[in-house]
Amino acid sequence: MKQSYCKTTIVILAILTTTQALFKGTPEDAKLNFTELGHKYGHRVEEYDVETEDGYILKLFHIPGKKKGPVLLVHGITNTADAFIIRGKKSLAITLADDDYDVWAGNTRGNRYGRRHTHLNPDIDKSFWDFSFHEAGYYDLAATIDFILNATGEKNLRSIGHSQGTTVHFVLMSTKPEYNEKIEIFIALAPVAFLNHLKPPLSTVLELGPIINLDFEDLGLEELFRDHDSATELMKILCSQGIIGLLCYLDVFSPLSGLDPKRVEPEFYEVIVGHTPAGTNRKTLVHFSQVSLNKRFAYYDYGLSKNLQRYGSSVPPSYDLGKVMARVALMVGKNDSVATVEDVDILRKKLSNVAGYYLLEPELWNHVDFVWANDMDVYLYPKIFSVLQKFEEHNACSNDI
Ligand SMILES: *[C@@H]1O[C@H](CO)[C@@H](O)[C@H](O)[C@H]1NC(C)=O
Ligand SMILES: *[C@@H]1O[C@H](CO)[C@@H](O)[C@H](O)[C@H]1NC(C)=O
Ligand SMILES: *[C@@H]1O[C@H](CO)[C@@H](O)[C@H](O)[C@H]1NC(C)=O
Repeated sequence: MKQSYCKTTIVILAILTTTQALFKGTPEDAKLNFTELGHKYGHRVEEYDVETEDGYILKLFHIPGKKKGPVLLVHGITNTADAFIIRGKKSLAITLADDDYDVWAGNTRGNRYGRRHTHLNPDIDKSFWDFSFHEAGYYDLAATIDFILNATGEKNLRSIGHSQGTTVHFVLMSTKPEYNEKIEIFIALAPVAFLNHLKPPLSTVLELGPIINLDFEDLGLEELFRDHDSATELMKILCSQGIIGLLCYLDVFSPLSGLDPKRVEPEFYEVIVGHTPAGTNRKTLVHFSQVSLNKRFAYYDYGLSKNLQRYGSSVPPSYDLGKVMARVALMVGKNDSVATVEDVDILRKKLSNVAGYYLLEPELWNHVDFVWANDMDVYLYPKIFSVLQKFEEHNACSNDI
């Protein structure tokens, strides 16, 4: 009785707030890009093009800071650098910049800011889309780090990744171990390497992955959730409209990653859908689905004969997490249905240099709260800043010796 009364109240409140949002019109921040948001919240932003060894051209945003060293931010799947700035004054990028860190926000291939190539056309050439999180780590993250170190003249940087943004770090550090020295500390928000304990409905979606994949392949669907394609636009329009927005929130967002209306308030959905989804591709989703179904953090599975050709073994090799020597701080949400506490424990045991493990206090902290929650400044940033400061001091000490 009490519970249903409570539920009714929540639904009424949500309808009121979303309807109100509808009449207020689209908030400005839904439309601004990273650079414009940076300006709006008080900082100068520079834009660079990073070219990878295999020809992809990625936007890299820079908010110059003089007092403290470079910090790189790496976004998750279907997201962009925008993830770290759409909360405005309360966003991680702006909070770091306000504290005079030298902030860099990267992008991985295939998203809105990474849809360019020296000679492949993403609209025509299917081979543009022949990548997964493997290439996003092996090429994109490598090129981004090298670009920043060259531009700043520093020997190493501090890096923060969210979700797939952590996966690409584990790929890079295990496949090109020389990059371990270039990362002073890696802060992994909602770390994703193992997906053994996914909860439904996401686990169900991934179980259907192989079947969906064949359909997509037949249809020639390589690019998915592009920001301006008609299906994505329709979804975004519906999601940002009043009562439908509420349904969209309840039916689409919350079951997949968990959305807590206290942390991600309905008024903020319009800003979110203005920036995401911003594109990914079939092969990336298939690769994650393989990781989950095979319960192994391994290279892409091409099937028996191609695996033999490529890897010299019938199954793809696992990424060697023993080669990840850089310090890693793990930050985990108790209610994260993607980067579950159980799976991060598996990862934690395989890493040799865990510099900190932080379970965020709120019981309902979930996967997207690491970039979207309205109280990141209370529960998340103090942890991030304490880790960053610790390894700044460490730097100073080792310089003295
Ligand atoms: C962001 O917006 C500004 C101002 O409209 C524009 O000059 C810039 O090219 C945009 N940047 C990107 C990466 O789209
Ligand atoms: C390294 O930085 C210098 C100047 O800061 C620039 O001229 C050069 O092109 C950069 N090299 C690469 C590979 O980015
Ligand atoms: C998140 O919290 C809800 C409500 O307490 C619970 O039903 C669900 O199982 C939790 N999910 C995870 C992944 O812990």
